[in-house]
Amino acid sequence: MITYQTLSEKLNFNKDLPFTPDWSAAADFLNIISDHCLTLKPEIIVECSCGLSTLILARCCQLNGIGHVYSLENGPDYAARTRQQLEQFNLTQYASVIDAPLEKITLHKTDYLWYSTHELPDETIDMLVIDGPPGFMQKNSRYPALPLLTKRLSRHCVVFLDDAARDDEQNIIRQWLKDYPQLTHQYISAERGCSILTAGT
Ligand SMILES: C[S@@+](CC[C@H](N)C(=O)[O-])C[C@H]1O[C@@H](n2cnc3c(N)ncnc32)[C@H](O)[C@@H]1O
Repeated sequence: MITYQTLSEKLNFNKDLPFTPDWSAAADFLNIISDHCLTLKPEIIVECSCGLSTLILARCCQLNGIGHVYSLENGPDYAARTRQQLEQFNLTQYASVIDAPLEKITLHKTDYLWYSTHELPDETIDMLVIDGPPGFMQKNSRYPALPLLTKRLSRHCVVFLDDAARDDEQNIIRQWLKDYPQLTHQYISAERGCSILTAGT
């Protein structure tokens, strides 16, 4: 069984990992994304929502000797806390937490609030990890991620959606597969569910 402790040992962290029960991504999801990152060594990683996932991905980039994480975060306090943790773990070189207030966007005649991307560097994304905005904010809260970022994804980009066992995330996956029929979808029965999408090229 994967725990935060086993993950910490796997990645040779020299301090206990800071996690918040129910809010930090589950250890098995973090294990899936860290395995991918260590194997594929993506150069540009974008994540939606910062926290423990930012530390894990930044540490993978440090071990890989390549890669940078850009984390979109709407909550200034969470952003500040994660920046502080990156400093404590000497990982600031490998991750940037971007203040990204939620903005209104209309897609398929439905309004959503999603991260401002003004401060996101114009780089091609090799790995996208979606763990926000929180589900309580709105129905199908994470749906805008692909419509808004799809043009920036590299041909080999792999997309990871956390909490994929929830009804909303399953709706989102169904809609994405309609919107982007070139995508292939794999569901992993992790603690909270993990959906993996690839363009398959
Ligand atoms: C699921 S959490 C993000 C988890 C992050 N990816 C991680 O692994 O730690 C999604 C969002 O919830 C908000 N959040 C984090 N901790 C919270 C808390 N304790 N209470 C309320 N909102 C929180 C933050 O804005 C965060 O971006």
